[in-house]
Amino acid sequence: MMRDKQVLITGASSGIGLAMAIELGKLGASVLMVSRDPERAREAQRKVARVATGAQPTVLLADLASQADVRRLVADLRASTPHLDVLINNAGAAFRQRQLSIDGIERTLATNHVAPFLLTTLLLDRVRAAPEGRIVNVTSGSHIGAIDLDNLELERGYRTLRAYSLSKACNILFTYELARRLEGTRVTANCFDPGPTESNFGASAGGFLSVVQRALGLFRVLRSAQVSGRAGVHLASSPEAAGITGKYFARNGKPAKSKPVTYDREVAKRLWALSEALCSRRSTAATAPASSEGHPTRSRNMPSSPPDPAASGNLGRRSGVPTPR
Ligand SMILES: NC(=O)c1ccc[n+]([C@@H]2O[C@H](COP(=O)([O-])OP(=O)(O)OC[C@H]3O[C@@H](n4cnc5c(N)ncnc54)[C@H](OP(=O)(O)O)[C@@H]3O)[C@@H](O)[C@H]2O)c1
Repeated sequence: MMRDKQVLITGASSGIGLAMAIELGKLGASVLMVSRDPERAREAQRKVARVATGAQPTVLLADLASQADVRRLVADLRASTPHLDVLINNAGAAFRQRQLSIDGIERTLATNHVAPFLLTTLLLDRVRAAPEGRIVNVTSGSHIGAIDLDNLELERGYRTLRAYSLSKACNILFTYELARRLEGTRVTANCFDPGPTESNFGASAGGFLSVVQRALGLFRVLRSAQVSGRAGVHLASSPEAAGITGKYFARNGKPAKSKPVTYDREVAKRLWALSEALCSRRSTAATAPASSEGHPTRSRNMPSSPPDPAASGNLGRRSGVPTPR
């Protein structure tokens, strides 16, 4: 069903992203796995390679919280990929304390919203070049119900869950606005809530979220990443999903209503403009406060096969990238 289709998945090193990469690999897709950590990436790549029925998976290294890395990733992709059938923006994170990304943007917003916004807008022509391009964004049912666009980076009142839920509402607003802007093209844009899932998410976030995820695990509320990723696989691959656009799918895989604020077109337009402005901020690597998440890796293509732990991966070609629309 997906043979010869090019599918890019961010956050493909673990959890829901890896589960979707495995399932789409089984369906014959050529999976491009974006990850920031070479070791985790190789391990994930092996898992997909074992079950892939089409082309071997490829790993692209990038720390999505860094716009320079996103741009390098895009440059590498543009050099090698004339069209992209599916773009799945799945990578996500939460942070206990307010931190700034290397570009000086609140880190949750930078990772969960600005990165997919930049990646998608820079790759849009490649998705449009596909016969039937699909964009799938991973959001959450716990997206926030009220948005103050004047405090998007939570300079006032930062809390882990608040920042996370805000970024997830941004995912939905972005999806709906993108779908509107893509009307009349063959490209669709949808988002889904995977639901509470057993993954590395809580452990990576630490603090309260880690406790909540462990508690949900004890009460068997968490689903496997494979089950939670099904809606994403469906949106990315099924013929029934062709032509469906601008929708939010709930954890049961059915179209559902997201919170009212996500349907506010004025908010969506303003968020788009603010996101563009955030993408044109100059990198402040030298001045950004130290971050517990480490420094950005360079975007690199790793060989798809055989995954050789001794090989360090060849550096991807660098080239200029277009400015986002
Ligand atoms: N788990 C849940 O209960 C749940 C519920 C609703 C929505 N979601 C959403 O589902 C998506 C996937 O989460 P998950 O549960 O599968 O968690 P996960 O296992 O922690 O996976 C998150 C993925 O994102 C990657 N990532 C995070 N920050 C990154 C960065 N700066 N650059 C590149 N990659 C980065 C991680 O890479 P590393 O391996 O390098 O950390 C990992 O591959 C997220 O968008 C999350 O918001 C999850």
